[in-house]
Amino acid sequence: MRISVIGCGYLGAVHAASMAKLGHEVVAVDVDPVKIERLAAGDAPFFEPGLPEILSEAIESGRIRFTTDMSEVAGSRVHFVAVGTPQGPTGAADLTYVDAAVAALTQYVAADEFVVGKSTVPVGTAARLATSLSAAVPGATLVWNPEFLREGFAVQDTISPDRLVYGVPSGAAGESAVAALDEVYATTLAEGTPRLVVDLATAELVKVSANAFLATKISFINAMAEIAEVVGADVTALADAIGHDARIGRKFLNAGLGFGGGCLPKDIRAFQARATELGVGESLAFLADVDAINLRRRAHVVTLAEDLLGGDVTGKHVAVLGLAFKPNSDDVRDSPALDITARLHELGAVVSAYDPEANGTAARIHPEVHYVDSADEALRGADLVLVLTEWNEFRQLDPAVVAGLVERPVVVDGRNCLDRDAWTAAGFTVRGMGR
Ligand code: UGA
Repeated sequence: MRISVIGCGYLGAVHAASMAKLGHEVVAVDVDPVKIERLAAGDAPFFEPGLPEILSEAIESGRIRFTTDMSEVAGSRVHFVAVGTPQGPTGAADLTYVDAAVAALTQYVAADEFVVGKSTVPVGTAARLATSLSAAVPGATLVWNPEFLREGFAVQDTISPDRLVYGVPSGAAGESAVAALDEVYATTLAEGTPRLVVDLATAELVKVSANAFLATKISFINAMAEIAEVVGADVTALADAIGHDARIGRKFLNAGLGFGGGCLPKDIRAFQARATELGVGESLAFLADVDAINLRRRAHVVTLAEDLLGGDVTGKHVAVLGLAFKPNSDDVRDSPALDITARLHELGAVVSAYDPEANGTAARIHPEVHYVDSADEALRGADLVLVLTEWNEFRQLDPAVVAGLVERPVVVDGRNCLDRDAWTAAGFTVRGMGR
């Protein structure tokens, strides 16, 4: 099928390359000529395992084309909208890019074609866009097909997702939309992927409620970490024990520095803002606590670092291992690790920070921090070691070797990812999160 994808960020670039991998003819559009040029040359503009391979394959096969010219979408049967919905100044989602993309697209969409929203939007957006689309192009249909990909697993999550959700209008238009999307995802459906057909508002809500649930789960275990810290209990053992209850489940119960990234933090804020607009703000009042618990983890680590350095970090050497919001990513948007790093620098610590992939993205936001090219370089002469992102490279460090590099053997394990016994045996004072 001929498909267009509007927006070539994390979501759009992966979606476009994955659609080509599934055998479709894809035209991918972005307003940023630099991004388009890089993608056209097979150069992924961010670190995402598996993306360079499917991108090169798609380019070599001729099944993908990158352009800044929206008119090239003409003739595609399905047009995916995958632009960003960043957090606006009030916490509500900024819909400028979605509105602009749909308006620009509308000029080239024909009757019997489908505009398929993938961006995360406040509930009600799709109905509004559907009205303007059908006024401009009678016979074209707007549907919502939310995306659940995780960074680091984005290709796998796009090609073999847990589930597909189609938000469609009722009647014949909805039936043709389902048929078109079934054709897009034929390979995925043949693998037995569950497919749920719902209305537009439900599809929008599925996405934000999934992220709100995940954020709540993480903040729940971090709240338990706060209690465990006071009473001397071990939150990891607690998570293992409650996680055996299948109704609770062990996944997303890792206490630590909390959630960051381009999705969970902004999505819970936008969801609250939307609920307030709808007059049901109380229903999501708990998300303010979820956010507050999450942000307290960062403050906690800064205070802990100060305590471990004798009350004042000024002039003390701090080795920071990890800047990305999670491993296997170079994304530092709302990253707890980068936030803590910048705060310690501001407090006067002499920080040496290292991330296997995110030094460059971190330096763009916090150029004042000193970044180094290896863990060893960061560790040399450190008065305190902070492990802030659980990259395998850090899990696998030999604590005996690290002990030989640092000035003082003290480590804060911000992600509870180190072998505590091995580090203690090597002479380290180890401070975990909620342990
Ligand atoms: C998240 C969701 O997991 C995806 O399903 C969703 O599609 C995506 O947002 C999105 O809306 O686009 P992602 O932001 O890639 O995906 O990252 P997650 O794997 O969810 O991790 C989010 C944050 O939570 C990270 O900072 C991670 O370190 C933290 N986390 C995760 C914990 O602190 N504890 C855990 O147990 C799990």
